[in-house]
Amino acid sequence: MTTHLSNFLDRPSADGIWTGLRLLREDGNVQATPGAIVVRQGLVEWLGDAAGVPASFIALPRHDARGALVTPGLVDCHTHLVYGGQRANEFAMRLAGASYEEVARAGGGIVSSVRATREASEDELFESAAARLRNLLAEGVCAIEIKSGYGLSLEHERKQLRVARRLAEHFGVTVRTTFLGAHALPPEYAGRSDDYIDLVCGQMLPALHAEGLVDAVDVFCERIAFSLEQTERVFRASQALGIPVKLHAEQLSDMGGAQLAARYGALSCDHIEHLSADGIAAMKAAGSVAVLLPGAYYTLRDTHLPPIEALRAAGVPMAVSTDHNPGTSPALSLLLMVNMACTLFRLTVPEALAGVTAHAARALGLQDTHGRIDVGLPANFVLWNVQEPAELAYWFGQRPVRCVVRQGRIAEG
Ligand code: NIG
Ligand code: FE
Repeated sequence: MTTHLSNFLDRPSADGIWTGLRLLREDGNVQATPGAIVVRQGLVEWLGDAAGVPASFIALPRHDARGALVTPGLVDCHTHLVYGGQRANEFAMRLAGASYEEVARAGGGIVSSVRATREASEDELFESAAARLRNLLAEGVCAIEIKSGYGLSLEHERKQLRVARRLAEHFGVTVRTTFLGAHALPPEYAGRSDDYIDLVCGQMLPALHAEGLVDAVDVFCERIAFSLEQTERVFRASQALGIPVKLHAEQLSDMGGAQLAARYGALSCDHIEHLSADGIAAMKAAGSVAVLLPGAYYTLRDTHLPPIEALRAAGVPMAVSTDHNPGTSPALSLLLMVNMACTLFRLTVPEALAGVTAHAARALGLQDTHGRIDVGLPANFVLWNVQEPAELAYWFGQRPVRCVVRQGRIAEG
């Protein structure tokens, strides 16, 4: 089925001298001279012109990349990968004319995934998420964010986050977990949303944090989800525990969430179709990344474009992600999102590629270790069967990966 072995540690080491590389530079151009990367003990030990590989490395094994284009390992910085069931029925409802909000109000939407997630065992969730993750890994993803938010109780949010940690271990992929307890109101709290936020802040977050399951905290701040005030309470609780925050912001309406998130130094604001000029200025000042999610935009047949030109003019870093989730973005190809970010949102190819590497890493606080190839960093890079970088955005429905080096191992190919 795939080339994956069950145990990541059985994959061959990538240690050695990788030659015949055409390295993609950060400016989006390909380095003119053939490149080489030396990997030792899973880390990039040397990087430069193939002609200049120091003699001290001469005894190391050689890997000939035969002219492959090389990029950093991809980073998918916004996913809801762990959940029970699927929601193709809602797809059909929307085809019949229902909107996302109408589906949610009719008892479908996030809450229907909550039911299925609560019913699933941890092992069942692991198996279904692993099958999805394999698709992303095969395309070169080396780091991924996985949110909770389909459990909506301590027990079931814990189950989701534990699965995320297990996936990291099993596949040797860097996983950043995000606690999204404030994703939707669980049915047992109907009409009592402030009480639910009390539970999120007072019990769920501290407990999950104490168990080492929370790398960041997110909230769905929207008129069909949680208010600005409720979002701020969750942010305050996170800040008190020293946990960074991010936000599902301004997806369906301008709530001013970006300004609030900026006040808490958010890593990122995500979706942001309705982001205002004030929101952009606040994000710029706070150093928050704008995470663009063309899969959700496309699935919802949204027509309100995120303010790309203004983000670009302000110099806010833009990331691109799958937003993989069963409701609004059942996407399992980050390269397809690159294509859509260019076609739908008019990103340039270098912007879109930075969006799934350096800027995506920044959206996870991983900018020091992921999203680029550099000496001293874990070896995460992808060899592509393409002539030029634009092909990574141009093709869709194909997977031009020759080989993926993930955490110092030849993980794919
Ligand atoms: O990112 N916006 C909220 N959360 C998801 C949708 C989740 C769902 O519909 O299950 C999103 O689009
Ligand atoms: Fe999302």
